[in-house]
Amino acid sequence: MGSTAPRRRAAPAARDSLSGLLTVCLLLRTCELKAAPPLKPNILLIMADDLGIGDLGCYGNDTLRTPNIDRLAEEGVRLTQHLAAAPLCTPSRAAFLTGRHALRSGMDATHGYRALQWNAGSGGLPQNETTFARILQQQGYATGLIGKWHQGVNCESRTDHCHHPLNHGFDEFYGMPFTLVNDCHPGRPPEVGAALRGRLWLYTQVMALGTVTVAAGKALGLISVPWKLAWGAASLVLLFFISWYASFGFVRRWNCILMRNRDVVEQPMALGSAASLLRRETLSYIERNKPGPFLLFVSLLHVHVPLVTTKEFLGKSQHGVYGDNVEEMDWLVGEILNAIERHGLKNTTLTYFTSDHGGHLEARDGGVQLGGWNGIYRGGKGMGGWEGGIRVPGIFRWPGVLPAGRVVQEPTSLMDVFPTVVRLGGGQVPHDRVIDGRNVMPLLQGEAEHSAHEFLFHYCGEFLHAARWHEKDSGKLWKIHYITPHVHPEGAGACYGRGVCPCSGPGVTHHDPPLLFDLSEDPSEARPLAPGSEPRYGAVLARVAQAVRDHRSTLSPVPPQLSPGRIAWKPWLQPCCGPFPFCSCSQEDPALRRAPSA
Ligand SMILES: *[C@@H]1O[C@H](CO)[C@@H](O)[C@H](O)[C@H]1NC(C)=O
Ligand SMILES: *[C@@H]1O[C@H](CO)[C@@H](O)[C@H](O)[C@H]1NC(C)=O
Ligand SMILES: *[C@@H]1O[C@H](CO)[C@@H](O)[C@H](O)[C@H]1NC(C)=O
Repeated sequence: MGSTAPRRRAAPAARDSLSGLLTVCLLLRTCELKAAPPLKPNILLIMADDLGIGDLGCYGNDTLRTPNIDRLAEEGVRLTQHLAAAPLCTPSRAAFLTGRHALRSGMDATHGYRALQWNAGSGGLPQNETTFARILQQQGYATGLIGKWHQGVNCESRTDHCHHPLNHGFDEFYGMPFTLVNDCHPGRPPEVGAALRGRLWLYTQVMALGTVTVAAGKALGLISVPWKLAWGAASLVLLFFISWYASFGFVRRWNCILMRNRDVVEQPMALGSAASLLRRETLSYIERNKPGPFLLFVSLLHVHVPLVTTKEFLGKSQHGVYGDNVEEMDWLVGEILNAIERHGLKNTTLTYFTSDHGGHLEARDGGVQLGGWNGIYRGGKGMGGWEGGIRVPGIFRWPGVLPAGRVVQEPTSLMDVFPTVVRLGGGQVPHDRVIDGRNVMPLLQGEAEHSAHEFLFHYCGEFLHAARWHEKDSGKLWKIHYITPHVHPEGAGACYGRGVCPCSGPGVTHHDPPLLFDLSEDPSEARPLAPGSEPRYGAVLARVAQAVRDHRSTLSPVPPQLSPGRIAWKPWLQPCCGPFPFCSCSQEDPALRRAPSA
């Protein structure tokens, strides 16, 4: 990743003296409980894509093998109620990076599009949003992002990189500015631009029919039109046909690319070598930055479709190609954890593992399930309210500071990572805006009994689908659904026939009165409570309605980043290596094309 200029690293000395202080504390046994965690640990954040909470051994799966992630949980704190701020990639990640609901930055749906669709759209994480990487960078951290971004690239020109990771506090970036999608793998059914393509195909057919009719009419002498017009119509048919046909090859070329910092290094990317490339980059990053402190965000491409898996793992799991891909991901996580240990960084690194949202129930090929398993939780990816879409794995490890093997049942959010790491890095959260996340260190260390979140709000695009109330006194965990998607009658709570469930329109039900569940008794949201059976029904509804009003009063309108105008593909914004529109390059080292040796 290029040479790293010498950086200001005041931290190690401060760290030594702090850990010295801690030792004194521990020896004297005076300030054990009050001991603040040492400042400026390395921070390693690992996020999987589309992984279900029920896919991991440490969350109860007894047939998928995930020994490395399970070990992380044994050595650290495992959260059982860790919640994504949104059930889809772009908004969930925007909220993760900024500690704020995606609506606050305009990064959630207001016009139907729920995620960025192209590298060449102009929407993305606005420049006036502050990521944890930016704050830690200012605190002297080396900051790196390896893997998926999906927060936009450019605003006005091909190289302004206004939304690029390097403009959001990361010193180094290697990976996909977009995301894996089925279109990245030739021969798989398309995901991106499917509607546009459908329209192009329809126009082609209509125009062709019209042209043939006119030509036949003219040949039979029934109508008189100039041949010029007929030829014009025929060329239009050809044009539509070519656009339709080209849209298949070009989606892959335009969206499935690898960048190193500001340069496109592989276009379209070769999926088979992605796992070994990410491994190489991550290990090299850790080695180069071991003097610390560093913040490394490893944003895995696993386990999103198309599930391209190396032959070492193919056919090895008991759960088809999806299970193979999960096991490959676990291997990759193990390689990263081993590197941390090998370089003696285990005790000075806060390591975190999560998934951006729940497993994708609608991802199926014929009868074969290609999406993750959300355990006992109802629903999945794309569903704003049901637990399956938002309850994800959450593991924090920091030996010597966080108790090993601790399990926390309290509600926590992925947005909590923001204030937590900002604080550990010695920075301050911005005071000029609402931050929805809360520092989780007291909870992880066992100093606080309860989460700082009394209420959490669950959005689907701009629509509030559900809210949760953790009532501390009674220990009850109430969940209210205002809107739920219509699921396929025979599907296991999924919207088969669609990519993901809708947030609004004819595909959802508005509940009046809302549905109420007691998650502390019914975590699978199987038995809605009725006013007759639950004496507190009315009181709970009223209390949560008040909390929703208070929450709403903190929202203010911002420019929507997923509007049709910003979503649309714009040729002048397309990151491209080589001549446009053919954009083609491949990575330097052919040795990397080989599968990783496990
Ligand atoms: C383990 O994960 C697989 C793959 O997602 C799933 O099919 C299976 O039901 C899970 N098993 C358990 C016990 O949760
Ligand atoms: C790391 O922390 C663990 C747990 O506190 C401790 O047992 C171990 O000795 C520490 N290792 C080093 C190298 O300090
Ligand atoms: C960023 O800019 C937009 C529009 O210019 C504004 O609405 C929004 O409040 C700003 N956000 C922050 C965090 O300052």
